[in-house]
Amino acid sequence: MTRILDGRALAARVRARVAAEVAELRARTGRVPGLRVLLLGEHPASLAYVRTKERMAREVGIDGRVERLPSDTTEAALLARLAELDADPAVDGILVQLPLPAHIDTARVLAAIAPGKDVDGFHPLNAGRLAQLAGPPPEDLLVPCTPRGCLLLLEEALGSLEALRGRRALVLGRSTIVGRPMAALLLAHDATVTIAHSRTRELAAECRRAEILVAAVGRPELVRGDWIAPGAVVIDVGINRIPTTDGGSRLVGDVAFAEALGRAAAITPVPGGVGPMTVACLLDNTLRACRARLAGGR
Ligand code: GUN
Repeated sequence: MTRILDGRALAARVRARVAAEVAELRARTGRVPGLRVLLLGEHPASLAYVRTKERMAREVGIDGRVERLPSDTTEAALLARLAELDADPAVDGILVQLPLPAHIDTARVLAAIAPGKDVDGFHPLNAGRLAQLAGPPPEDLLVPCTPRGCLLLLEEALGSLEALRGRRALVLGRSTIVGRPMAALLLAHDATVTIAHSRTRELAAECRRAEILVAAVGRPELVRGDWIAPGAVVIDVGINRIPTTDGGSRLVGDVAFAEALGRAAAITPVPGGVGPMTVACLLDNTLRACRARLAGGR
């Protein structure tokens, strides 16, 4: 029997804890964590994501606001807005929704977000600290939201993070948003980590060796059932919309879910697995950023 890991339920638990801690912080200090989500342009999926982030932030008592900017906003104007948000004491967390329009240098923008307000954990300083960890991340390190969500799902599946020690983990995908920080987190918890990607030879065989498989490549149902080792724990980060025969569409992950049932020990569904965890971890990062700024007198 394959256990289906309920990301919605786990995310609801994380949000309930964040809500309680936000209420406690507010009662003690009068401060409410502030989150600003910047979206350039009209990308429909991005618009849906940022609206969810804003709504969920408000539900836990965080002052979450989406700022929409035109798609032809110049890089200089975006950098100027980031500088204003950096200087605004009511703002604890800043997130620039990716992907950005092609005329903007993403790396330059991410490096311009103050590391202490970088609730995505994409600033080179935060990414570098994550890459250098010699153990679980400290409270004050802002870790990218999707990999953190995946780690919490692995903790749920395995019973503890200590259970990662020595396990063979395969991360499929080398993006800076998911694959690389995921690999760093697994390594920080003493897993034996392989990163596979589009140039990896004998990908199916690599997958079959993995006790932990995290798929984050954005290729619908790339991972077939017989690529999964019996008893493996599978975390599916993919969110791919594919057409159906009736002219509609549906969401599938990077793993052929039906084929994985009966082989994997546990698997996350799409939707309802990693997605809700990403937003919950963003809210938790915003709370952490706020606490750290209060402790530092900023
Ligand atoms: N686009 C897709 N995932 C993410 C994410 O985690 N953060 C940001 N900023 N943009 C994204």
